[in-house]
Amino acid sequence: MTLNILDLLIAKRDGETLSAEAIQWLIDAYTHGHVTDYQMSAFLMAAFIRGMNDAETQTLTRAMLYSGEVLDLSDLPGIKVDKHSTGGVGDKISLPLAPIVAACGVPVPMISGRGLGHSGGTLDKLEAIPGFNVNLSIPEYRRQLQQNGLVLIGQTPEIAPADRKLYALRDVTGTVPFIPFIASSIMSKKLAEGIDALVLDVKCGRGAFMQTVPEAEKLAQTLVEIGEAFGKPTVGWITNMNVPLGQAVGNWLEVEESVRCLKGEEVSEVMELTYTLASEMLCLGGVAETPEKGLVMAREVVENGKAFEKFLQIVQSQGGDIGVLENTSSYTQLAPAYEIFVPDSAEGYVHDIDALVVGKTAVLTGAGRMKKEDPVDPGAGIFLHLKPGDEAKAGSRLATLYTQKTSEVEALKQAVVAAFQFGEEVPEHQTLLMKRVTGKGVVRGS
Ligand code: URA
Repeated sequence: MTLNILDLLIAKRDGETLSAEAIQWLIDAYTHGHVTDYQMSAFLMAAFIRGMNDAETQTLTRAMLYSGEVLDLSDLPGIKVDKHSTGGVGDKISLPLAPIVAACGVPVPMISGRGLGHSGGTLDKLEAIPGFNVNLSIPEYRRQLQQNGLVLIGQTPEIAPADRKLYALRDVTGTVPFIPFIASSIMSKKLAEGIDALVLDVKCGRGAFMQTVPEAEKLAQTLVEIGEAFGKPTVGWITNMNVPLGQAVGNWLEVEESVRCLKGEEVSEVMELTYTLASEMLCLGGVAETPEKGLVMAREVVENGKAFEKFLQIVQSQGGDIGVLENTSSYTQLAPAYEIFVPDSAEGYVHDIDALVVGKTAVLTGAGRMKKEDPVDPGAGIFLHLKPGDEAKAGSRLATLYTQKTSEVEALKQAVVAAFQFGEEVPEHQTLLMKRVTGKGVVRGS
């Protein structure tokens, strides 16, 4: 049967399930410019409203994956494992995680994205390190991985070009927050990297795409099912993104916090999550028999300095200045600092910090971008001195704002204070590690 765009649009508009052949045709035709943006926009909206089932989502992923090059790293030794996070505020986990896992002997080929809107991106953080080059060619990507057991780059034009076009269109047609589109977008890129297994960090809460646990569970299950259907063992964690992760929000600030973590100076929630994801990656990578054993290995390479050494090695190898990592106070691009104090009315404890408000305010300091082409200021951001559960004394330091935008400092300070909620009683602890999702379903929370 000859396929044509109008029949396909009408079928989806009327709620029909599309055949694998039709979806494959649509993605090919769109990637090669035979289907226009206005036709594809109509498809996106029809699918968003009418839904897509699991089989359609898998076919969509496959079509997007094979719209470009699918890397084959099978000639390199080891089981290659990556981690993907659905994005949040203060989420710097890739920075400590990747070197920890690589230092334990599991190769990590990591292709990351940039920050958009209120959520940050690993590439912007890496580029806050002077000289760090995230734009490697595919032969160089392979060479780095072979030589160092770790490579950290941005998406190349060869990888999942259909996703690149589709994501831009979803962004301007109100069709981003739809699980089949999010899952196919993420997995087409991850499966193209040449990985053997994958760990997913599905963020849940105010600062995340998925605001509720059932939504996050559905996304995590869809992602895990796609991974498994492509023969790549996949484990997901649903983690709390109501509150920013750690204390630093902003590119260099997050590098600096990650360095402290890698040096073993920080034992906060950043490391709780890092160690959990590392232990999963070490199991999938075949060097640990159980997540518990993986946890011990991960802690060991932080304590004996091997993880930090690995980080320095990869930064140097990708052109970055390791001097600023060895001595973070020598960093020269930090934006001017402005202190924010606990208001007089707020004696007691910090009860909550709204990740979305902090994320949006961090963008306004210059740390993020609203449009893809916007530049970011590597030295801008917000450092949270107090987190939920901490005692708040009027006049003590609440946060530090780093920004070049002198005329906006007062408004930014007020926005940061407004993100906090205080109360007289010690608040209930918020669970960071909410649920673990495998091919067998939602197995447990922590
Ligand atoms: N991250 C992606 O890569 N794609 C989406 O659609 C959402 C988050």
